[in-house]
Amino acid sequence: MSSSDKADKAPPRGMRRNLATYGDPGFSLFLRKAFIKAAGFSDDALDLPIIGVTNTFSDFNPCHGNVPRLIEAVKRGVMLAGGLPMEFPTISIHESFSNPTSMFLRNLMAIDTEEMIRAQPMDAVVLIGGCDKTVPAQLMGAVSADVPAIQLITGPMLVGHHKGEVLGACTDCRRLWGQHRAGQIDEAEIEVLSGRLAPTQGTCMVMGTASTMGCLVEALGIALPGSGTIPATHADRIRAAEASGRQAVALAKGGPKPSELLTPAAFRNAMVVLQAIGGSTNGLIHLSAVARRAGLAIDLEEFDAIGREVPVLIDLKPSGDHYMEHFHWAGGMPKLLKELRGHLDCDAMTVSGQSIGEIAEAAEEVPGQSIIRPASAPLKRTGGMAVLRGNLAPGGAVIKHSAASPALLSHTGRAVVFDSVEDMVNRIDDPALDVTKDDVLVLRNAGPRGAPGMPEAGYLPIPKKLAQAGVKDMVLTPACASFFGIGR
Ligand code: FES
Repeated sequence: MSSSDKADKAPPRGMRRNLATYGDPGFSLFLRKAFIKAAGFSDDALDLPIIGVTNTFSDFNPCHGNVPRLIEAVKRGVMLAGGLPMEFPTISIHESFSNPTSMFLRNLMAIDTEEMIRAQPMDAVVLIGGCDKTVPAQLMGAVSADVPAIQLITGPMLVGHHKGEVLGACTDCRRLWGQHRAGQIDEAEIEVLSGRLAPTQGTCMVMGTASTMGCLVEALGIALPGSGTIPATHADRIRAAEASGRQAVALAKGGPKPSELLTPAAFRNAMVVLQAIGGSTNGLIHLSAVARRAGLAIDLEEFDAIGREVPVLIDLKPSGDHYMEHFHWAGGMPKLLKELRGHLDCDAMTVSGQSIGEIAEAAEEVPGQSIIRPASAPLKRTGGMAVLRGNLAPGGAVIKHSAASPALLSHTGRAVVFDSVEDMVNRIDDPALDVTKDDVLVLRNAGPRGAPGMPEAGYLPIPKKLAQAGVKDMVLTPACASFFGIGR
């Protein structure tokens, strides 16, 4: 085949991709150029590789408050590398501005992201996300569209302070609200606290879902090394955005597609990291959904087996004591990958062009840091999660035992059952509710197929009369059918 034949067979690039179907491709391209030139683009600019940049800024989403600056830096990186950045909007989801629940909207964002990547002409895309459901949605969309993609995280917020205590959203949100419900924190102080729990733009800085996904995108190889943990407010976050833009141009010229990166090895590496960081149980739900988009399945038995071998190595709340900024300055994900090398597939490739093993090898050593533990001195001897089976969850359930009160891990008690979220809201604080601290609270029909999109039912509150009596923890069980298989 001659080189001109090959050129004829090459898939269309840049402005020639994904033409509108008017029955005449030449006319479609002519019309597209006519309209885009209305925005002042030159022919030289329109001949460059096109890099899509998702704009998920919203006044309703302070976790994405730095997105405009990130977009500016991504665009700078794209242009430095000889590409044409094209910003486009998608849905933005914030946890507390999503009625009925953010989970209800995750797949809508995935569809939006996928179809906008598919519909518009882009040779690669930079996905900017952070708040809990946004990164899973973007990964799901990117895998299905299968255009070279690089994930840029908005980054965790800095810690808060109150009366000499360090606060973290949102582990401390529920704890402090629980104290307010118990009458230990009055109205005036809880108002003050509402201004101190989330003191900067960015995502929750404990090892919740957003932080978990920030770590998992590095483990999956779809974000630049070290980029998942940089605080939202730091200059390095802006530089990571510029670097992501630059790298997207390299991806546009023949880099791996999501389907080539998100292999069984990459998902297994992500499961290892999920166990080692004491990550969010939601992380497993989202990982399962992304895997489904890649035509793969997360095996619960394999995840459980990994958890029996891989210790928790990160000392972050809620399993430990520290926060994402501390994890980052201790060496971040590259240092953790280095400690986990024996459990990882080090040949798995990443968007950076480096393998996981090469990234681990280049990790920064921070003298005296104690946030990222060596395997010889783990925070917990086993992984953060285990898979449970039984009549309450015949399809399997996941417990984050690293953050549970050890005394409650083996427990026998009466079941106090709520049939729905509404039933729980109506009765949980009723002084007549027949409940003691030794009972097990069960919330039924609160999974993704029951309640409208799975509210954060793990936060089932302690009944007010028990909270006022000083009870801080009980066995709380959101019971639903298996939550796996909801990816599409
Ligand atoms: Fe956005 Fe926690 S509310 S990450």
